[in-house]
Amino acid sequence: MKLTPAQQAEFAEQGYLFLPSVFSPEEMALVTGELPKIFSETRDEVIREKGSASPRTAFFVQAWNPVFAMLARHPRLVEPGTQLLGSDKLYMHQFKVNAKAAFDGAVWQWHQDYATWYNDDDMPTAQAMNIALFLAEANEFNGPLMFIPKSHREGRLAAGHDTVTTSYPLWTADNDTITRLVAEGGIVAPKGPAGSMLLFHGNLVHASGSNLTPWSRWILYLSLNRCDNAIRRFKRPNWIANRDFTPIEMLPDDCLAAFARERHTAAA
Ligand code: SIN
Ligand code: MN
Repeated sequence: MKLTPAQQAEFAEQGYLFLPSVFSPEEMALVTGELPKIFSETRDEVIREKGSASPRTAFFVQAWNPVFAMLARHPRLVEPGTQLLGSDKLYMHQFKVNAKAAFDGAVWQWHQDYATWYNDDDMPTAQAMNIALFLAEANEFNGPLMFIPKSHREGRLAAGHDTVTTSYPLWTADNDTITRLVAEGGIVAPKGPAGSMLLFHGNLVHASGSNLTPWSRWILYLSLNRCDNAIRRFKRPNWIANRDFTPIEMLPDDCLAAFARERHTAAA
């Protein structure tokens, strides 16, 4: 899926791009049908909310689930990344599903992802980004992702190490910085149905509140990095900061539908 010049210009200006309903309800049914199985697994990659059995994050799911393996190579997710990062050779730096579970989903503090990629993984430049796919509706109540538009233009901000709030230590921005940036850029929280996509710059400041609703807010994140910008420090596990820098080879656009058909035939 190719972005238009106008969409690329909007991304450069705002630091993010929202694309509603890119995947069909049938495709999303196949994907979300896998989630109960994924979140019920007991393994290092599946992190729970503090003091609760509710899932917070499932990491590196593409390595242990065949449907998510297709999403890691899906052209609607990966090709816009090649355009925005200016390279055909991208690898998966991180791959995760954030559950933000009904009633239990807790906050993510204000941060830039590149602060963590730089401080923890020694990623040379911010030429890396997130491609988010809504696996459930994100609405104003269930802890949608919040962005400070244009904050990516600040470059990498000073950050403190939050080892308490998140499912893994995260480098977060302080309240004075957020107050200044919000005074300039405001806050947006793009909302839409499952199958919608959010693309955002590695330096865009973002956060999300808790989820007190009965509606889980599942989001898949592909953190794509240029192969020539690979990380140089390997202190985090491979499943949280991938060390395989092989370029992603994209699958056909109809891979999910083809998989669903094959599964249906095999079951008949
Ligand atoms: C993140 O910033 O990595 C996650 C934020 C969210 O899923 O709400
Ligand atoms: Mn983040």
